[in-house]
Amino acid sequence: MSIVILRQDDKIEMWRQALQKAAPGITIYNGLEEHPKDIIDMALVWKHRPGSLADYPNLKCIASSGAGVDFIFEDTSAPIHLPITRVVDPMLASDMSEHVIALIFAHLKNLNRYKLDQQQKIWKPQNYSRIRDFTIGILGLGALGAVLANDLVHYGFKVNGWSRSKKTMKNVQTFTGMETLAAFLGATEILVCLLPLTKETTGILNKNLFQQLPKGAYIINVARGGHLVDEDLLMMLQQEHLSGAALDVFHTEPLPTAHPFWEHPKVHISPHCASVSDTASVVPQIIENHRRLLAGKALNNIVSIERGY
Ligand code: NAP
Ligand code: GLV
Repeated sequence: MSIVILRQDDKIEMWRQALQKAAPGITIYNGLEEHPKDIIDMALVWKHRPGSLADYPNLKCIASSGAGVDFIFEDTSAPIHLPITRVVDPMLASDMSEHVIALIFAHLKNLNRYKLDQQQKIWKPQNYSRIRDFTIGILGLGALGAVLANDLVHYGFKVNGWSRSKKTMKNVQTFTGMETLAAFLGATEILVCLLPLTKETTGILNKNLFQQLPKGAYIINVARGGHLVDEDLLMMLQQEHLSGAALDVFHTEPLPTAHPFWEHPKVHISPHCASVSDTASVVPQIIENHRRLLAGKALNNIVSIERGY
């Protein structure tokens, strides 16, 4: 029984070696190289080639090497009747929290404005904001959103969070379900999207949602490009209803060079790097799930096919 790694980037061999080192008793295959298909029982996937999962007749589990699983559901030939697992990892969560907090402070202290001014040698101090000036609203209070919320509370921010099921968190005002979304948005000055990409959440960052935010609100999307309607963001920035946006994820990655976000002075771009699965932190949970699979035990971090996350 063996594991195959299916991804199309240059990290495939790094993952193979890390898994092989952690579990010398099983063979780990690089999916880009020739390998037997019928002995594979687990596929560790990250943006794999659509269709490739269907090549394994004895596959028993699909493991995402990230937190998100949207790319698995997008592969129409993926055997999604099998258990699908994802990464839930404290390091992934703290990395995300650090990234978002860096973006929030950059916004409060006008760092993006000064970077633009520097390019033109403009010396122009701006009024800056303080932690107490902003309420942060987090869409998604899951493994990542909840850690971010607690970290922001620790810094002294007012924090609101929105989720599907009810949450109780110390010093975080929680909102549950669609019927509370308007109230959540009305009280949010910096909006962070940490939702999974599902049928319900695709395109959620749209004109209608932006209009419910107070004028001058700032958007941070670190979840998936599919959450955002790009044209609606551009329009709301142009109308100065929104003050800016920091985007880590895009409909097409890498972001095509002709995309207007690249040169927009109020859009801060990063290349889908907010939090990246660390092999040392994640490999043990993959091996543990493989062990459970062989032992016929329940797997950890299973995704719900009905919910899509
Ligand atoms: P998670 O633990 O599954 O949490 C998702 C949260 O969203 C939960 O609180 C869930 O509510 C809420 N939610 C889902 N659908 C909803 C809906 N229709 N209405 C209201 N709330 C809804 O996911 P996670 O581990 O925090 O990760 C979130 C996403 O971050 C991933 O799916 C991935 O796309 C993205 N991500 C990006 C990066 C990056 O580098 N940019 C890195 C890692 C992850 P319940 O709690 O009620 O279920
Ligand atoms: C990264 O985007 C992840 O889903 O882990």
